[in-house]
Amino acid sequence: MRFSTSLVAGALASLAYAQTHTECNPMEKDCPNNPAMSAEFSTDFKAGAASVKGWKQTAGSLAYNNEGAQFTINKKGDAPTIQSETYLFFGYVEVKCKASAGQGIISSIVLQSEDLDEVDWEFIGTTKTNVQMNYFGKGNTTTYDRMIEGAVSNPQQEFHTYALNWTSESLVWLIDGKAVRTLKYADAVGGKNFPQTPMTVRIGIWAGGDPDNAQGVIEWAGGKTDYSKAPFTMTVESVKVTNYSPGTEYKWTDKTGSFKSIE
Ligand SMILES: *[C@@H]1O[C@H](CO)[C@@H](O)[C@H](O)[C@H]1NC(C)=O
Ligand SMILES: *[C@@H]1O[C@H](CO)[C@@H](O)[C@H](O)[C@H]1NC(C)=O
Repeated sequence: MRFSTSLVAGALASLAYAQTHTECNPMEKDCPNNPAMSAEFSTDFKAGAASVKGWKQTAGSLAYNNEGAQFTINKKGDAPTIQSETYLFFGYVEVKCKASAGQGIISSIVLQSEDLDEVDWEFIGTTKTNVQMNYFGKGNTTTYDRMIEGAVSNPQQEFHTYALNWTSESLVWLIDGKAVRTLKYADAVGGKNFPQTPMTVRIGIWAGGDPDNAQGVIEWAGGKTDYSKAPFTMTVESVKVTNYSPGTEYKWTDKTGSFKSIE
């Protein structure tokens, strides 16, 4: 669901409707270049706050313990989120984590570009057998029929590794090293809606089941969140990224949103 992207907007009360977040949409105007991630970008969150580099906190704050970084909702409005400072342009992104339990609680791993290409992993706090895998191209939300569930056991109790192998030809979602979904370029509206522009990595937790959210969002999230049962915590052990197009920065040379226009 596109709801995940709302968490970066920081407008906590209207989380579910903030929809998307872009500083400057390069399909609409001239925008600054996107700083490029190095060829290898790894973070071991078990090492603690002082050694975590290359991320900005876009909402809330994190705590650390020997399992990694903890993204916790203690009360209504909490939605701690981090975002990589730099962008990858095709690459391999691996996140080892344990999702949060809790009714209506969503743990998410999102890749998103400035023209709103997006790739998601979303964990519903009360769904113990699968994770949602979704994507959007150029912010196209005319239909919500692209989500597929991937089987995984006890994502709220056990650490698993969720990875994406993203090239200009295909996007593969992998769980614990096994490919569970493949999207070919041509299968996303002939490539037009295939995620293909430089993206940041965003990790966060939010209450899709907040009683102020729309009924449809609350239902999707698995029901109303009861904050008296907080804290709700997602734990991220590590992130490893290989950027297939390392460099200094990415320039959008036109307004097509095509990967061919990125220099
Ligand atoms: C948006 O997505 C719909 C359905 O997936 C598709 O039919 C339509 O062509 C897309 N629009 C654009 C502008 O790509
Ligand atoms: C990613 O995909 C490319 C192209 O299909 C392939 O060569 C590579 O081995 C894949 N990497 C991983 C880690 O799966």
